[in-house]
Amino acid sequence: MTIKEKTRPLRVLQLTDPHLMARADGDLLGVKTRESLQAVISEVLRVHGQPDLILATGDLAQDGSVDAYQVFGDSLKVFSCPSVWIAGNHDHVENLERVAAEYGANHRHVIQGGWQFVMLDSSVPGKVFGALADSELEFLAETLAKHPHLPAVVALHHHPVDIGSDWMEKIGLTNREAFWRVVDRFPQVKIVLWGHIHQEHELERHGVQLMATPSTCIQFTSGSSKFAVEDLPPGYRWFEFHDTGDFTTEVCRATEFQFDLDQSSTGY
Ligand SMILES: [Fe+2]
Repeated sequence: MTIKEKTRPLRVLQLTDPHLMARADGDLLGVKTRESLQAVISEVLRVHGQPDLILATGDLAQDGSVDAYQVFGDSLKVFSCPSVWIAGNHDHVENLERVAAEYGANHRHVIQGGWQFVMLDSSVPGKVFGALADSELEFLAETLAKHPHLPAVVALHHHPVDIGSDWMEKIGLTNREAFWRVVDRFPQVKIVLWGHIHQEHELERHGVQLMATPSTCIQFTSGSSKFAVEDLPPGYRWFEFHDTGDFTTEVCRATEFQFDLDQSSTGY
């Protein structure tokens, strides 16, 4: 008699929007972003332990500095797995890519645990909104066409759907129709994942699970018509992917992290 061995799921950590700065005590609305990232990382290790892969979905730096990206890379050294980084609106793409290459984090397509992960750059230099260049859309289509049998996670920084927040509607992915035209051709896409909105958000579109994740620093108030920050702890998202195509996910927060948020701000 043979007993089919149950394989361990692939454990994937999403970290997003750490907004690190060259200044060691740099803060966003009173939250020191290096400290909040460290609090989140400690929470990951305490609650879940080591992941097998880390997806970093943009706004890694607030100031675009090489130093900030190196702090991010060094912070991930407590994890023994690879990470992949993409840019957000606050990032300096050339600096990010240069430092990501030093840390082996510059891959845009990862196949692991019977799944594939496609990382897209939706940043537009000097703009808060996002857009996917034709080259990014072609990369997505070509990659998915090459691997039709592997369930896929597509990650980008900007939200490709209306999230019910007026001020954020203007700063999402502007060419979302073109993005969905590609995604809709590939039924193996199970998840579209992003950052940017600094809040947990989950919905479903044509059988694809859409997910956003809290920042590792400040949180925006969900459903707010204008800019507003919410007194919620920094967080992360955890996935467990099975080679059957099933998965589970949850958002966790560093609830012990102490911070003094400036809630009177009208921007960040
Ligand atoms: Fe951000």
